Order: sequence, then C-alpha cells, then structure tokens
Amino acid sequence: MKQSTVIAPSILAADFARLGDEVDKVLEAGADWVHFDVMDNHYVPNLTIGPLICDALRKYGVKAPIDVHLMVEPVDDLVGMFADAGADSISFHPEASRHVDRTIQLIHAAGCRAGLVLNPATPLNWLDDTLADLDLVLMMSVNPGFGGQQFISNVLDRIRRVRARIDATDYAIRLQVDGGVKTGNITDVAAAGADTFVAGSAIFGADNYRDVITSMRAAVDQAG
Ligand code: DX5
Ligand code: ZN
Repeated sequence: MKQSTVIAPSILAADFARLGDEVDKVLEAGADWVHFDVMDNHYVPNLTIGPLICDALRKYGVKAPIDVHLMVEPVDDLVGMFADAGADSISFHPEASRHVDRTIQLIHAAGCRAGLVLNPATPLNWLDDTLADLDLVLMMSVNPGFGGQQFISNVLDRIRRVRARIDATDYAIRLQVDGGVKTGNITDVAAAGADTFVAGSAIFGADNYRDVITSMRAAVDQAG
C-alpha cells in the first residue's frame, strides 16, 4: 500500500553558503524531509557533504527527518557516523557494499530506517532477499552524481514493478524516486506508484518554495 506523500527537497541544489536558512525556508514552505546527498568522488564523480554538515544542521535546530542518501563506496563506516550526526534514514547503493545484508543490519542497529537505492540499470532482483528488511526503496530516475539532470522515463516502468513487489508484502515500505522530478512529471511518477519524492533543482531553483511544493502535492493528488 502507498504511504502518505512525502516531499523531500534535496539540499544539493540549495545555497550552501546559507544552508541553515535554506533548510528552514524549505521546511516552512511545506517540505516533509530533508534529502541529504552524500557523494565521495569514488562511487560517483562528485564530492559533496558529510556527517559534519548533518550534525551542524541538527545543532542549528533542524527537527525534520534527515534522509541521507549515501553515494559512497565503501558504505559501512559512514552508517554510524551519520546515525550519530542525527540522520533518520540512511540509504545506500547495494553494489557499493560488500555485504548488503550486514549494511542493512548496521543501519537498523544504529536506530535509523534503511533504504536500498537502485540506479536506472540496477537489476530489481537486489530486492529479492532484502525487501522485507527495508523501510524504503529509492529508485534513481537519473544516474547518480549530479543534480539538475533529465528524468529517465524508462524508470516509470521500474517504479510500477517495485510498487507491485511492495504491495505483495504486508510491510509499510516507502517507494521513493530521486532525479529530475518536477511539477510537470510528478503526477506520472506518483501514478506509477511512488509515495516519496526527492526534488532538488525543481524546488531550490524556484523563486517561491511554497508555490512549487504546493503544486507538487496537488499534482501527486491528481494521480489518486
Ligand atoms: C543525484 C542526487 C539527487 C539530486 C536530485 O545523484 O541523488 O538527489 O540531487 O536533484 P534534481 O532534482 O535536481 O535532479
Ligand atoms: Zn539523492
């Protein structure tokens, strides 16, 4: 069953020189979670932010869930660091972990929700023996590494297939989509079965964060 709609702005597209203020603004504008993209110049070519910044946002006073998306290899050492820094959910790419089940267990043992991230060409059979242990499945609709890329529409069919897999279980697993999501395509993404939406440039690139988040929610509702 679909979970309640969550809009998770990716701070990758925020003004990092004013990060605390940007996060306050986007939460005041109606965002539900803060999506936190961690890139290591190894698993992906780009280099972004680590646990220090997550901890700084908590110390600054951010209370909303912080949804950490690890695009790093290896994964395990960062799990504890992000849990200590105040992460609520931690998602990782299975091909970046030597022992996927162990990483999921580490995330849960650290008190966080666990997510598995599937790139546009990652086989869905990574879910065969992990789905029951996951709190969320994050479907990439771009190749990881950069914000502002074009949504890959083939991913819609993959989202439908993962929706069916989740619905075949009794678990409350979120289906999250990340990459190129905007007001113009979010209805299709929701209709395919997503309930949790990451958007970076579409939100932080807008003049009015509230307007775009409100339009996104309305567009999700249109999907029924
Ligand atoms: C890409 C990141 C995304 C990205 C989304 O590797 O995981 O979260 O920042 O940005 P937009 O919405 O601009 O595609
Ligand atoms: Zn992300």
